Amino acid sequence: MFEVLPALAPDPILGLSAAFRADTNPNKIDLGVGVYKDEQGNTPIVGAVAQAQARLLESETSKTYITPQGVQGYIDGMLELLLGKGNPAVLANRVAAVQAPGGCGALRILAELLKRCNDNAKVWVSDPTWANHIPLIGNAGLALDTYPYFDKATASIRFDAMLDTLKTIPKGDVVLLHACCHNPTGADLTQDQWRQVAEVAQQQGWLPFIDSAYLGFGDDLETDAFGMRLMVESVPEVIIAASCSKNFGLYRERVGLAVMVTENSAQTPIVQSQIQAIARGIYSMPPSYGGALVDIILHDDALKASWVAEVDEMRNRMRDLRALLVTKMAENGAPKDFSFVNDQKGMFSFLCITPEQVQAVRAEHSVYFVDSSRVNIAGINLSNVDALSKALVSVL
Ligand SMILES: Cc1ncc(COP(=O)(O)O)c(C=O)c1O
Repeated sequence: MFEVLPALAPDPILGLSAAFRADTNPNKIDLGVGVYKDEQGNTPIVGAVAQAQARLLESETSKTYITPQGVQGYIDGMLELLLGKGNPAVLANRVAAVQAPGGCGALRILAELLKRCNDNAKVWVSDPTWANHIPLIGNAGLALDTYPYFDKATASIRFDAMLDTLKTIPKGDVVLLHACCHNPTGADLTQDQWRQVAEVAQQQGWLPFIDSAYLGFGDDLETDAFGMRLMVESVPEVIIAASCSKNFGLYRERVGLAVMVTENSAQTPIVQSQIQAIARGIYSMPPSYGGALVDIILHDDALKASWVAEVDEMRNRMRDLRALLVTKMAENGAPKDFSFVNDQKGMFSFLCITPEQVQAVRAEHSVYFVDSSRVNIAGINLSNVDALSKALVSVL
């Protein structure tokens, strides 16, 4: 049976991690895989999560199956986090939601739902977008296309070109937008630009599909939800794939949420039944553990405050590292201005250098990041930033 299968090249990011592990240079620097790291280069368990785990261990009495939609307290807490307290669409029973195994699981089941709605729907993604969007959506059998997003030459969003393309997309198609902290570029729409995009969505009738994987890593948990909430306010139908991997640090527990805002409350149970049937046909039901932890955190004032403070701390650390990198690049004689890195948000930045320069800094200085020039800002620390900037300057 298996003899027909060709071996596939390793995923570029996972291949890079393997190359990093194999590198014996004691001063090697890993800016590849998208995981938050502290000053010591560790990814510790978030304090509020550790406390929630202790409580769950005390209170959990069974490992029987949970319901197909997942942990209800998790879903309610997440809807409030994503859409705001007392969101009118939620109050009007216009929101269906199902817990999913990670943001990836949510993206995939939502893609399957789109396929059931419209076999011919095309999903438009930003150029560039997170590489895994392509298989997650494409493997559901949907066609993909791109809208212009980022210009490496000017290190800025190509907003006019983006809007021009969005104005040509018809009803029945879908536009994938990053809620905040765009992966891979770190370049986010301003609130005014979100308003213009929402207006085009209204006029054209295409469906906004929002990927929210970094809420709280941009400005703060509320501000980062601006575009997503605006879309829900502006158009009748929106779908959202949310992830708790980064902001709760629950990567391996696979905690996500698929949200479907419907045009009217009569459609909500129908959409809910469809998405649950899709999940049943793939993995039956989501893992409970991570959702149960988020439920505990979001429904305890003290734990929630502690979690918010930790999100603030992660975000502020990354913001400070951006500023430090920009300063060090200038101090070490970079031939161009890197201050655009300060304007980008979240865990990633495009350094806007060439693949050849990325490969040279890897080969000559053991600095690892993907050829697109996307770096994980959280991989920088006070001990490596000087060496990193010198290495970068040496290949420019
Ligand atoms: C843009 C984006 N969307 C979704 C995800 C999904 O994350 P997970 O499946 O780990 O929750 C990620 C993770 O890196 C991401 O960067």
